Amino acid sequence: MDKFVIRGGNPLVGTVRVSGAKNSALACMAAPILTADEVILENIPQVRDIETERRLLAAMGAEVELGYGRAQHRAKINCGPLTKPVAEYEIVKTMRASALVLGPLVARMGWARVSMPGGCAIGARPIDQHIKGLEKMGVTIAQEHGYLDARTDRLKGAHIVFDVITVTGTEDLLMAATLAEGETVMENCAREPEITDLVALLTAMGAKIEGAGTSTIRVRGVSKLHGAKHRINPDRIEAGTLMAAGAITRGDLIVSNCNPAHLGAPIAKLEEMGARVDRLGHDSVRVRADGALRAADVSTEEYPGFPTDMQGQFMALATQAEGVSLVKENIFENRFMHVQELVRMGANIKIDSNNSARVLGPAKLSAAAVMCSDLRASASLVLAALVADGESILDRVYHMDRGYERIEEKLRGVGAQIRRMGNIFAAREEAMISG
Ligand code: EPU
Repeated sequence: MDKFVIRGGNPLVGTVRVSGAKNSALACMAAPILTADEVILENIPQVRDIETERRLLAAMGAEVELGYGRAQHRAKINCGPLTKPVAEYEIVKTMRASALVLGPLVARMGWARVSMPGGCAIGARPIDQHIKGLEKMGVTIAQEHGYLDARTDRLKGAHIVFDVITVTGTEDLLMAATLAEGETVMENCAREPEITDLVALLTAMGAKIEGAGTSTIRVRGVSKLHGAKHRINPDRIEAGTLMAAGAITRGDLIVSNCNPAHLGAPIAKLEEMGARVDRLGHDSVRVRADGALRAADVSTEEYPGFPTDMQGQFMALATQAEGVSLVKENIFENRFMHVQELVRMGANIKIDSNNSARVLGPAKLSAAAVMCSDLRASASLVLAALVADGESILDRVYHMDRGYERIEEKLRGVGAQIRRMGNIFAAREEAMISG
C-alpha cells in the first residue's frame, strides 16, 4: 500500500495548476448513458474514482476510452453498445457515486439493477431521495439481495420536492428527467457548481433545462439526446486545498486554472484568518500568509456555504491559528476522522459532540506516522504534515488518490518535501495511458 513521506517546514512558493473537478466528472460520465452517440469530456482528472467509473460503464457494455496527455485529459464515452444495465456490488462498494447511474439507466433502458451502496467512513449516506424521486416519475423499484431493481415503461415528468438537499440525488433525477414524458419540476435542489457543469453537458446533448444553480430546476423531457463535447470545470475542492496549503506553510502560492467564483466561502475564511488572497485574472488566485494566522469558526453548509469537503483542511489550518476555532460539520454525521490523527501530531482539538469540535491554536505539530481514513481526511493530514517538525508517514494514501491527481508531484513542484513510497497506483495507471 502506498505511503507519503512528508518532511514539514518548507513554505510553498510558485505556481500550481488545478485539475478538472472529480465530482463534476463523475456526474458527467454518467450522462452519456442517456444517448447512443459518443460524448467527449475534456479536463477529466486522472484519479482513481474516474477509473472506477470507467470500469462501471465498461462492465455494462459501454466503450470508454480515457486518454491522459500533457495537453488534455479526455474521456470518449459511447454508450451505444450498452446492453447490461447492471451496476455490480464489486464496483459500487468502492465508490458511492455509482448511484448516479440509476436514473440515466432506467431513463434510457427502461430497467436497471444497481447495487445499493454501503455506508462509508463519513456517514450512512442513504439514497432514499433518489428512490423516492424516481418512484414519483413512474419507476417501480424493488429492493432484493442488496440490489435495487428499477423498471418503467416510460418515465413521466413529476413534481419533486427533496426532503434534504442532495448533490448526487439532484444530478441523478435531473438526468432521468431529460428523457421523461412532460415536465419535471424539482424543488430544494442542490446548487453546487457540479450541478451547473452537468446541466451544461446535458444542454449540449439536447436537454431542455432551466434553473440550474438555483434551488428550483425545471426539465422539459425530450424523446432523444445526442452526442456532445464538454469541458469539465476546475476542481474547487482541490483549489481550496492548495490555497490552504499555501496559507498553512506561510507561503506565496499561485493556484492556477481554478474558478475563483466557485471559491467564495473558502476565500472569505482564509482572509478572515489573516491570509492575503488576490484574484489574478479570471482563473488564478495568489495566496500569501506571512504574519500570524487568526482563529475563525467554520460551519459547513450546502453551496454557496462553506463546503464539507474543505472542513478537514480548515481544521488543519486552524491548528496553526491563534485562538479558538469552532468547527461545525452539518452535512455528514461522521466527518471528524482526521481529528484523532491531528491530535497524535500534537494538535489541541476537543470534540464537543459528533458534529462540533474546538481547535485551540497555535499548536506545534510534530511529525508522526498517521493513517488516512477517507479522501478529505487525507488532505487534512497532508496539510498538517507540511508544517510538522520532522518526517511524517501517511499510510493508506489510496484514499487521496481517489480524488487528487498526482498531488505529491504538484506539491513538490512548489517546494514541499514529499515523496511516495510503493508507487503501485501510478504503475497501474502508466499501463492504461493511451495518448
Ligand atoms: N442524503 C439523504 N438521502 C439521500 C441523499 C443524501 O439523506 O438520498 C443526505 C446525506 O446522508 C448527507 C446529505 O444528504 O447527510 C448530503 O449528501 P449528498 O447527497 O449531497 O452527498 P453526495 O451527493 O453523496 C456529494 C459529493 C461529496 C460531497 C457531498 C456534499 C459526489 C460524487 N460526492 O456527495 O464529495 O461531500 O456531495 O457536498 O459528488 C468528496 O469529494 O470527498 C465527497 C465526499
